[in-house]
Amino acid sequence: MLILGIESSCDETAAAVVEDACRIRSSVVASQMAHGKYGGVVPELASREHLRAIVPVVREAMSRAGREFGDLDAVAATEGPGLVGSLLVGLTFAKSLCFVHRKPLIAVNHIEGHIHAVIMEARQEGRAVEFPALALVASGGHTHLFEVAPDFRYRLLGRTRDDAAGEAFDKVAKLLGYSYPGGPVLDRLAPHGDPHGVRFTMAKMKGNPLDFSFSGIKTAVLRWVEQRGMSAEIDARRVLARGDQPVTTEQWIAVTPQATLDLIASFQHTVVSELLKRTVSAAEQISARSVIISGGVACNSGLRAAARSADFCAPVWFPSPALSTDNAAMIAAAAFPKLARGETAGWDLRAKANLVLA
Ligand code: KG4
Ligand code: ZN
Repeated sequence: MLILGIESSCDETAAAVVEDACRIRSSVVASQMAHGKYGGVVPELASREHLRAIVPVVREAMSRAGREFGDLDAVAATEGPGLVGSLLVGLTFAKSLCFVHRKPLIAVNHIEGHIHAVIMEARQEGRAVEFPALALVASGGHTHLFEVAPDFRYRLLGRTRDDAAGEAFDKVAKLLGYSYPGGPVLDRLAPHGDPHGVRFTMAKMKGNPLDFSFSGIKTAVLRWVEQRGMSAEIDARRVLARGDQPVTTEQWIAVTPQATLDLIASFQHTVVSELLKRTVSAAEQISARSVIISGGVACNSGLRAAARSADFCAPVWFPSPALSTDNAAMIAAAAFPKLARGETAGWDLRAKANLVLA
């Protein structure tokens, strides 16, 4: 079985051909650089960039896989959640391909895609994720804990009440003057600071103990910055961030005093602890047989290291970095069980900004 996956929910235009739910025949990701100077994704700009990229990206994926559209068993596209204008580009293109080549269309939830990235990669290595699994999906748009059943049904156990974990990384990086996306930048700088240098107290929340909240720590960083009058060092970094060339870790360190490196290390340490604390207890709660940690934030080296030494009741699975951030192989992978169940979409399929998984 051969499925072409298309992903366009945010600022990556991606297409991939996956065979039998585990063999990635091709995976092409075009990341939009145009947002960098605005410090975040500009929705109108994203839609236009997707329009420009979608045809070459899909063509490239098919050509690298060495297949024709006629060879496909289905075309899968992300239906949500995400930016509606961006989703529409991938979805409409997938519909047109299905209409012309008479292929079934499969709608995939982006969050489900992140979970399948791990399941697909395990299969590729001849190993299997066991169920029930506990999945933490932490990215720029989502921070959710799910119970995953063997038939790929999902139960939401906890979620962020405000900012997503990746969003907190991006916002803190932006207010400190670093470039977008800020998560990878802070990750590279954190090892140069003291993770206990700044103490952040996380507010106790009422209600579901598995819910997250990251807006408080973002505000705490803002207060810290305001109290210290850091505008000169922040301005120096903004100048670097506005340049056309990617900034190296050494260049960032040259304009980052030790106190700020300590702040970054402490921020990352606190976010990682919050993520892992709830993931460990959710896994225990459902007697998970495996733990999946996926989404862009799963690239974080502090999170990966801390997860290795955390007290999990089951083995922990991370996707490789290329499959942690947005890609279309995960969308194609998530479509296989749907195709097997005959869950195909009609021409009336619409993009859904706030699509929920469970
Ligand atoms: O999954 P993804 O590519 O897109 C969404 O579905 O949102 O995740 C992107 C997010 C961004 O917020 C980015 O800053 C964050 O993942 N991210 C990281 C790292 N790499 C990407 N956050 C922390 N550490 C990283 N190494
Ligand atoms: Zn994502």
